[in-house]
Amino acid sequence: MVKVITYGTYDLFHYGHQRLLERAKALGDYLIVGVTTDDFDKKRGKINVHQSLMERIESVRATGLADEIIVEEYEGQKIDDIRRYGVDIFTVGSDWVGHFDYLKEYCDVVYLPRTEGVSSSDIRSKKRNINLGLVGQGNVLKKFYDESKLVNGIEVNAILADNESEKKCYENDDLVLLDDYDELLSLVDAVYIISHPSKHYSQIKKALNQGKHVLCESPIALCEKDFDELEKLAADKNLILMDSIKTAYSTAYNRLLLLLKGGKIGDIYSIDATCTSIRDYDDHSWNSITAWAPTALLPIFQVLGVDYNNKTINSLTLDEKQNFDLFTKIDFQYENAVASIKVANSVKSEGELIISGTEGYAYVPAPWWKTDYFELRFENQEDNKKYFYQLDGEGIRYELVAFAKSIELIRNNAYIDYKVSKAICKIIEDFENKDVNFIKKY
Ligand code: CTP
Repeated sequence: MVKVITYGTYDLFHYGHQRLLERAKALGDYLIVGVTTDDFDKKRGKINVHQSLMERIESVRATGLADEIIVEEYEGQKIDDIRRYGVDIFTVGSDWVGHFDYLKEYCDVVYLPRTEGVSSSDIRSKKRNINLGLVGQGNVLKKFYDESKLVNGIEVNAILADNESEKKCYENDDLVLLDDYDELLSLVDAVYIISHPSKHYSQIKKALNQGKHVLCESPIALCEKDFDELEKLAADKNLILMDSIKTAYSTAYNRLLLLLKGGKIGDIYSIDATCTSIRDYDDHSWNSITAWAPTALLPIFQVLGVDYNNKTINSLTLDEKQNFDLFTKIDFQYENAVASIKVANSVKSEGELIISGTEGYAYVPAPWWKTDYFELRFENQEDNKKYFYQLDGEGIRYELVAFAKSIELIRNNAYIDYKVSKAICKIIEDFENKDVNFIKKY
């Protein structure tokens, strides 16, 4: 019996896939089809596959051509599979000519002519693009713009740029640069907002009232009541309102959460997260707590939950108005755990994340919020494990994919729960209400 194996993503199954499978089957007596996981595709640079692994497997199964379907999830698996299944022929389309010649050591390698004129990428890009407007300023806005070019299905067509230097960054691109928010809303399906946090509530409300989806840099609002109102408005209008914290979309950070939930370091009793930077500030700057607390709070609220018993906010403020903090430390007490964050725009510290458990601890080195690496450390050092994952575009790319998917499905695909977003707003509200111990009084 001649065994044939072939691999692919098979997203939005099309005629080219069908023909490839028919010819692969005709090469032998038994056809094994490997369908790639989303994670493996991401590592290969295919980031916005539209269908889930199960849907893609189902499309292959429905052809009736595969005698066996397997899942491809890691680099080097092809050699393992060829040996394990006793494969005689490995085949793929001619777009891969030469790429798999190294497998000739293990079996025959056949490149079948690719069917002209059809591909999953083409089908994905022909679906109507979501027109996205960007609102705000600074480096992160520019990064969002650059990353959006890598995401199928989203196109930035307008930017609210309210000063000349900002406009200069984009002037060679095919974009509308505006200084009027209403005009921008009339041109887009969705907005990404990274304006000063004091503007978030009114800008989000206006966008939702005009039927636009919103991705907003955290915090979404400066108090719980405003957050609740916006969340309800989005739900009533069947629109997506997503909190933007790019760390939530880093693969390493997500793996860390899964390992912790799986009990790898035992019961968790303490979390300490630090995010600091030294920046120039002016009247438009975000204070330390709005700039950094949403990120620093993320692992605490995602791991320990949002129902803490007590918290204390300690802040060093700029002047007697006490609304611009240069440094803030918050301590939380839970029923069975403690946690703390240190955030600052004018004090520098080690930007690490440490999560302590009864069997070991997780250590994410600085800058932990751009997670691509972490360690699990134990009493017996020989048990220590290091984990590396690729982080493309600081997580922004994956965040945009999640936003586009949410809009398409009209179901929130965000990695940040509404409860977490709301708890973040509550912390900011308490700071705004001066429920704070001020380290330095004027
Ligand atoms: N294939 C083909 N003819 C096409 C498209 C794909 O023969 N027009 C083959 C590929 O060479 C591969 C298999 O089908 O052996 C699965 O390809 P896959 O990468 O899933 O499909 P693409 O349409 O090429 O996807 P994308 O556009 O995302 O790269």
